[in-house]
Amino acid sequence: MEIRRLTIENYDQIIRLWIKAELSFEEKGRDCKTAMAVQMKSSPDFFLGAYDGSELVGVAIASNDGRKGWINRLAVDPDHRGLGVAKALISESEKVLRKLDIKIFCVLVDDFNVASKALFEKCGYIERRDIIYFSKRDNAEA
Ligand SMILES: CC(C)(COP(=O)(O)OP(=O)(O)OC[C@H]1O[C@@H](n2cnc3c(N)ncnc32)[C@H](O)[C@@H]1OP(=O)(O)O)[C@@H](O)C(=O)NCCC(=O)NCCS
Repeated sequence: MEIRRLTIENYDQIIRLWIKAELSFEEKGRDCKTAMAVQMKSSPDFFLGAYDGSELVGVAIASNDGRKGWINRLAVDPDHRGLGVAKALISESEKVLRKLDIKIFCVLVDDFNVASKALFEKCGYIERRDIIYFSKRDNAEA
């Protein structure tokens, strides 16, 4: 397994993987092809793919809000789970963010997502139960 940078050429593969992994994403908003192309242009190192040969088996998108780093849209092909693919993608995301002097790494995880909670715990992330996520959207699909 090898971690490589993803480009907009990989867009359809990324979407296929997210669907197969049953990950929810905003196909008309920030995950649409036009939006992802803009994001990839400004932060090409943030889009990480795990490959088994030529097959894309995992995806993670890092982001940097200037104060903290985030790991987004992490998904692994169900046929390649339990092999450390997500762990490798998290580690590479952190590496990319550390190069920008980011020292805090964060992720939002659905409370019901037992696998993801166990994964991030295993990777050294500490769960905060005293925080509730608030957001405001300019439109429902953003
Ligand atoms: C969560 C997910 C990314 C894990 O991918 P993965 O490549 O199978 O995970 P890894 O093999 O790197 O697992 C690393 C560690 O995470 C934990 N873990 C991973 N999957 C787990 C599961 N189903 N149940 C319990 N712990 C799990 C284990 O501690 C594991 O270490 P171990 O193998 O030494 O026991 C994958 O199940 C997935 O794509 N799920 C659907 C999409 C999703 O929920 N994404 C996360 C959004 S926040």
